[in-house]
Amino acid sequence: MLRLLVLGSAAGGGFPQWNTNDEAARKVRAGRLVPRTQSSLAVSADGRRWVILNASPDLRQQINDRRPLHPAPDGPKRSSPIAAVVLTNADVDHVAGLLSLRENHPFALYAHRRVLDVLGRNGIFDVLSPKSVERRELPVDARVALRDRDGESLGLEIEAFAVPGKAALWLEGGGEVDLQSMNGDTIGLRVRSADAREFFYIPGCAALGTELAGRLRSAELVFFDGTLWRDDEMILQGVGSKTGKRMGHMSCSGEDGTMASFRRLGVNRKVFIHINNTNPLLIDDSPERLEAESAGWEVAYDGMEIEL
Ligand code: MLT
Ligand code: MN
Repeated sequence: MLRLLVLGSAAGGGFPQWNTNDEAARKVRAGRLVPRTQSSLAVSADGRRWVILNASPDLRQQINDRRPLHPAPDGPKRSSPIAAVVLTNADVDHVAGLLSLRENHPFALYAHRRVLDVLGRNGIFDVLSPKSVERRELPVDARVALRDRDGESLGLEIEAFAVPGKAALWLEGGGEVDLQSMNGDTIGLRVRSADAREFFYIPGCAALGTELAGRLRSAELVFFDGTLWRDDEMILQGVGSKTGKRMGHMSCSGEDGTMASFRRLGVNRKVFIHINNTNPLLIDDSPERLEAESAGWEVAYDGMEIEL
């Protein structure tokens, strides 16, 4: 069995982002559109012990909102069913929630070497004391059995693989940025249970080439980067100067977009996640939402549950 719980379905900033003041944001604040927290999934093989995929800045709220992540009613005074955290990159929206997991709860933290190095260089993450939290390198293209801090199996296997992407925005510096690097700054995850149920989680991806297409072919379930509907969306809406490509994200629509790239892959269930507040997919009755749904796509929402 594989139990999946969407903790957060929006991209960095959430929906509404704190300072957005457009029509969509106002509708969310008025209760006329569904709010969304920042991208994260929880997964479990037994419904008892959970692994968090990406630790968003909203993690505290996400845990409080989801009963399976609460301490057991008959448990000790300090406890949590969270046994491990896996990171797909070092973006603020995927690592800042680690700071909310201080308080000496034991768990294992898995990430690519490059992301572990980023955490290691930044002293604020030392609030996760090595006495409680063991940091473990996630190699690419290898199957890793997930274990809790004390080495007990969690019944889940992860295969990480590099996808085209860039270093986190806060690490860019002033120099040249490789927008489609395959060096492990951005990884995708294939998560598998002992009874061979599996799904993919790829919340950030700059391009879908033949290698990634090959991996995803005929997959049962894929959660995929739904940041922007179109590449120049932020510019068109007058809220930013960056394209999706510059941010390391391919777009949902367009000839080289995600929906077109998935068309012949035979993926059974396709779900957009990490959706930016500018993406019209977040507006229930928008033509874009209709177009995506007619192409067989679902739009993740906070609290979405899937059992495989
Ligand atoms: C992204 O997904 O592109 C980043 O989370 C952007 C950011 O750090 O705001
Ligand atoms: Mn992000």
